[in-house]
Amino acid sequence: MRRNIVHPGAGQLKYEIREIVAFARELNRWNIPIIWENIGDPVKKGEIVADWIKAIVMKKAGEDLSYAYTETEGARESREFLADRVNKRKKLLPGAPGGSALSLPDPVAIGAEDILFFNGLGDAVAKVFGFLRREARVLGPSPAYSTLSSAEAAHSGYEHLTYRLDPQKNWMPDIEDVELKVRYNDSIAGLLLINPDNPTGAVYPVEVLLEFVRIARTYGLFIACDETYANIIYGGAQTAALSQVIGDVPGFGLRSLSKEIPWPGARCGWVEVYNRKADHRFDLYIRSLVDAKRLEVCSTSLPQLCIPPILGDPRYEDHLRRRAALFEGRAEEAYQAFTGIEGISMVKPRGALYATAVFSGESWEDEAKSRARSLPVSDPSLRDFISAKTAEVAPDKQFVYWLLASTGVCVVPLSGFATDLPGFRFTLLEHDDEKRRRIYKTIAEAAGAYLCSA
Ligand SMILES: Cc1ncc(COP(=O)(O)O)c(C=O)c1O
Repeated sequence: MRRNIVHPGAGQLKYEIREIVAFARELNRWNIPIIWENIGDPVKKGEIVADWIKAIVMKKAGEDLSYAYTETEGARESREFLADRVNKRKKLLPGAPGGSALSLPDPVAIGAEDILFFNGLGDAVAKVFGFLRREARVLGPSPAYSTLSSAEAAHSGYEHLTYRLDPQKNWMPDIEDVELKVRYNDSIAGLLLINPDNPTGAVYPVEVLLEFVRIARTYGLFIACDETYANIIYGGAQTAALSQVIGDVPGFGLRSLSKEIPWPGARCGWVEVYNRKADHRFDLYIRSLVDAKRLEVCSTSLPQLCIPPILGDPRYEDHLRRRAALFEGRAEEAYQAFTGIEGISMVKPRGALYATAVFSGESWEDEAKSRARSLPVSDPSLRDFISAKTAEVAPDKQFVYWLLASTGVCVVPLSGFATDLPGFRFTLLEHDDEKRRRIYKTIAEAAGAYLCSA
């Protein structure tokens, strides 16, 4: 070709959560039944969608307007409904649960025009980064959900810029790291956080959120907060929505139907924009997101139209409470399975749908041992296949390959989440209680055996 047609960011598009699937499928040749612990799809893992929710969707599917386009920004009644919910978020009180000793701003008030629908947050993330000026960088967490880190890296053409989440401190963000990076890198235009976090399951206290707001205000940045799991919080964790702490700083929250109805196949997510008019350039940037959506006409109508009747139903709060309690129990099970295993640590998740285990200690860091570790695989041809495949991958991915071959359980290496920390993520989603406990036991025992294998 006479011109190079490859985007400078093309090499940055990594999504290990699904890439590992291609590898797992290669094991079909050995008839290994795979237990998918990689993808966060509650429905695929056996959750039954509540009958009353299905009834609402069926009724909406019977209405002609569900088959029509919506306005570009999304169905007006759904945007009004969601803006109203943002405006009803309470002011946090100093000293109250979820509050802080610090002074707290009033929650922001928004209108329907501040809500913009997308075909899932995956689409929103592609636009949010795709229409950001190339040299304007967004500092995000490490580890990070790879859709976000990859999109930021691809937009800039460089590696994603990250701040550290510290596993020794319950995966809390290293605020000093955030501030130093912002101070000494003036290409940083925005801060990204995921609360509750994927993959770590951390939930950020209000004090931490206020620190992000302080840094954004001091250095003239916007804040993006992925709140996909805002309604999946448990274990007594206290936090707030970005809209409750952001004050007058420009920013946006990212929300989705995927995990809390759950309805990932709806491909329905939205951006809630705060303080759009506080900065002229922020306003122009948000306008460019709407213009980009206009080229596509609009996002899928049916799930948007189901939002007011589902989220506004008196049964919805109870539905959220029941699910949070369910995941709390599973987080405890996962945590117990890993307790006492030398060389591996896990912070008990307090939100979202995942647990992350980290390898550490001298044994893990011994380079020579790294290549010699394995798990029992009886078929010699499969053993040779895995040995060859592990030769050039990150040490935690080697474990993931051996785990697949030895047990059929498919987890995601932590190195696929924009971090140098070695470990892996699995889900809290398996609905069959006995099977789930067996899976956790299998993974934990395999991790322990792997560490002792060299
Ligand atoms: C933190 C986070 N953001 C965004 C998404 C994407 O959600 P959606 O299904 O709305 O595209 C996910 C999905 O797992 C996620 O974990």
